[in-house]
Amino acid sequence: MRHLSTTTTTAVVALISAVLATAKQAWPPLMEKSSLWSAYDSFLSKAKYIDLTHTIRPDMPIWRGFGNISFSPAVNKDTGQAFAYATDGFVANAYKLTTDQMGAQLDAPAHFNAHYAASDEIPSTFALRKLCVIDVSAQARKNASYAVAVEDVLGWEAEHGRVPRGSVVFVRSDWSRTWPHVDTDVFPQVSLEVVQFLHLQRGILFHGHEPLDTDMTPHFDAEAWILGHGYAQAEGVMNLHLLPPKGCLLSTGFPKFKGGAGNYVRYVAVCPEDWPHGVAPGQAPEAPLQYFEKAIAWDAQKGYRSRN
Ligand SMILES: *[C@@H]1O[C@H](CO)[C@@H](O)[C@H](O)[C@H]1NC(C)=O
Ligand SMILES: *[C@@H]1O[C@H](CO)[C@@H](O)[C@H](O)[C@H]1NC(C)=O
Repeated sequence: MRHLSTTTTTAVVALISAVLATAKQAWPPLMEKSSLWSAYDSFLSKAKYIDLTHTIRPDMPIWRGFGNISFSPAVNKDTGQAFAYATDGFVANAYKLTTDQMGAQLDAPAHFNAHYAASDEIPSTFALRKLCVIDVSAQARKNASYAVAVEDVLGWEAEHGRVPRGSVVFVRSDWSRTWPHVDTDVFPQVSLEVVQFLHLQRGILFHGHEPLDTDMTPHFDAEAWILGHGYAQAEGVMNLHLLPPKGCLLSTGFPKFKGGAGNYVRYVAVCPEDWPHGVAPGQAPEAPLQYFEKAIAWDAQKGYRSRN
């Protein structure tokens, strides 16, 4: 009995040592293989990056309830003079922004509900997600106020699989293809039933659309439900016609205004290496960035710095 027990103990110790030895050998390569840096080298360093963001400029479309925005050269408060390359070595701009709801944006729930997160309270985990693109541009071509239906989502799923939990779902309508010449009063809509389906049945992070509003109902039914229940939403995105229905990631970056109701966002889709659209790291000048023969200068007529 005692002898058997010793033998068993010896065997167990030997087994544990063997497992540990194997683990010691295997662990560093495994770590390496699954590391984010090797994922970057394998995928992200060759991926195609596509900007989904309108340039913010004073002459861009804005919801009719808000006043126009304007830019001006930043002024030295001591001299009253605009900062200039010749006298100060640098220039700066001042922006008069009438709203935090314009261009490509991420609505914080605090836009409609004082008890949910404001801009600065949105977690940094929004930075990178799977991106699904549901294309209703054909329907929107026939009906300018087409409202995306649950059937459109189910149709997407029949082809591409279930909308992943925690993903972002963008609705492509092609409304933004004629930007800045767009109709901000009549536009393709995302219905209340669709946003409820996506959040309650699929557990998405947020949805997004090209127009500056979610729906045309008098009380903003879909938007009020989304924000009222603590969800965020993207508005004013573009270039969705350059994206595949699935397989890209979405990078979301925005400034952190204290108590912000909305955000000015840079949305960038990160698509597979073999995707025909977009630009890979290193294909355009990055460091240093592009040099322009023509200097940029304040254009009082246009109301912004321009090279033209
Ligand atoms: C606001 O901007 C639009 C587009 O540039 C322009 O047509 C309109 O006159 C501006 N409104 C005011 C009050 O400046
Ligand atoms: C366009 O779509 C909207 C929203 O679904 C609907 O109310 C309207 O009746 C449609 N118009 C036509 C002409 O089908």
